[in-house]
Amino acid sequence: MKRLILLLFVGVLVFSSCKKEEKVVVKSKEACSSEKKGGGKKFEMYTMSEMSMLMEQMYVDNQRLKERIKRGDTIGKFPNHFLKIHKAVMSDDKENDAFFKKQAANFISAQEMIYKDPKNAKEHFNKGIDACIQCHKVKCGGPIPRIKKLYIE
Ligand code: HEC
Repeated sequence: MKRLILLLFVGVLVFSSCKKEEKVVVKSKEACSSEKKGGGKKFEMYTMSEMSMLMEQMYVDNQRLKERIKRGDTIGKFPNHFLKIHKAVMSDDKENDAFFKKQAANFISAQEMIYKDPKNAKEHFNKGIDACIQCHKVKCGGPIPRIKKLYIE
């Protein structure tokens, strides 16, 4: 029973993390990955794709980076695992299309600028967040409000 509750909880978390507003009304819960499949496979709600895990990792890494930039700490090196964005397996590989590839490249170059030109870290950081949002607007609307919280004011 405990396990079932946990599964349900995880299911809700994963579902709610990646949905588009309009769809929510109709179906209440839907991961961005399964939208085009008309419901998708049921078991997918309990698994997180490699891409989703990378995204969550990038979120945390950017939260930490934001704090360092705000405090004026040293910035360190570009996190090479971000390059996995080009290859990580998504819940729906069809999503890895020309648009995604272009946005992924934009995002990586925006983030690299933070490390190449740390004097303007804040501006570059915010451009990196713009790049997250540019891709998300088309690919996965659900997390946008959360991503916006990363901006450095
Ligand atoms: C090139 C497009 C693209 C860029 C850039 C991008 N994302 Fe994503 N993101 C996606 C896609 C597509 C998914 C859904 C992945 C899947 O379903 O396998 C996703 C999923 C997520 C999720 C939800 C993961 C989950 O729990 O299911 C979060 C949070 C997220 N991204 C945050 C970010 C942040 C923060 C950035 C920038 C630092 C970013 N993304 C940059 C395309 C992108």
